[in-house]
Amino acid sequence: MEQLAAGAVLHKHELVYLLNHLDEDSRKQLQTLAHQKRVQAYGTSVYLRGLIEFSNICKQNCLYCGLRSSNKELSRYRLLPEEITACCREGYELGYRTFVLQSGEDDWYTTEKLVLLISSIKSMFPDAAITLSIGEREDEPYTRLLEAGADRYLLRHETASPALYQALHPTMTFENRRSRLRALQRIGYQIGAGFMVGLPGQTSADLADDLLYLQQLQPDMIGIGPFLPHHATPLKNEPPGTVEQTLDMIALARLMVPDALIPATTAMGTAHPQGRELALQAGANVVMPNLSPLSVRPKYMLYNNKICTGDESAQCRFCLERRIEAAGFHVDMGRGDSLKHLTHS
Ligand code: SAM
Ligand code: SF4
Ligand code: FES
Repeated sequence: MEQLAAGAVLHKHELVYLLNHLDEDSRKQLQTLAHQKRVQAYGTSVYLRGLIEFSNICKQNCLYCGLRSSNKELSRYRLLPEEITACCREGYELGYRTFVLQSGEDDWYTTEKLVLLISSIKSMFPDAAITLSIGEREDEPYTRLLEAGADRYLLRHETASPALYQALHPTMTFENRRSRLRALQRIGYQIGAGFMVGLPGQTSADLADDLLYLQQLQPDMIGIGPFLPHHATPLKNEPPGTVEQTLDMIALARLMVPDALIPATTAMGTAHPQGRELALQAGANVVMPNLSPLSVRPKYMLYNNKICTGDESAQCRFCLERRIEAAGFHVDMGRGDSLKHLTHS
């Protein structure tokens, strides 16, 4: 552990050994080291991103996800461009300087429509960053969306195990997922990769590969959350990933990719009432309050019992601000670019 904190590169068998031998004391030590590393890199700032879940229509069929195309129980919605810009305006007035536009893979949103949307958000709010999280597209659309003003792109690799990836993604391929991430990085986005913890059949060796893949890719952002079952998917009876193991992965990701921006995810907040605070104390430094209209939030149900979908969540920003301060951190409403990006630009 200390070797990792000092910047040493661990071999896969050493990581697997570590993962298999963590106990209460060593977990605490791991989280303390990760916290120190995060303070060295980013201080105690926590960056806020306004999340707009603009369409739950998806042509893909990932086994774990409530938005999968085979889920016929779900009532589908798509926000129009003017509804999305209205969310950004509201967010801008609340102080947000990053908007994360996330959706299923919805082809109604062609490159042309997205270019218009992104350029209009950028012309209204030139000092805000736009993060896209809309799945796999070709190089040309990715390039045009960047030219229109998008800054960052979240595309989790989901799992570094080719066999597990293939079993979970009947309509996608492991190779293409990785090729799209590399393309986004080459084209010039700040990229976000990441994975789920506790997927059915996932081993310590798979998790070690997830961490080693991140170390090799050096993404600007790393999204890690527990797998949580959804009642209308083939994985409905599988046990959820644990908070404890997810915290281990967040802490190790912080030690292995110290400059990354790491969100305390909604899935962590769903798995445990203080899940996001625990993630912040284990090395995470971003939170993404929901800015979507209240009427659509219950429909963006990736897994059971997702938080921030009811009336209580009208003001996620203030709820999260209180939680961040109470956990010993302070809110930073700036753009919050990654250190890697700032040192290369
Ligand atoms: N469609 C885009 C994509 O897949 O990249 C973006 C939206 S997708 C809903 C965002 C993330 O949600 C996925 O990368 C996946 O890791 C996560 N997710 C989906 N279903 C989940 C589940 N049941 N438990 C935990 N995370 C889940
Ligand atoms: Fe679609 Fe993304 Fe869900 Fe897969 S994870 S079904 S691509 S929304
Ligand atoms: Fe959404 Fe607390 S952050 S309700």
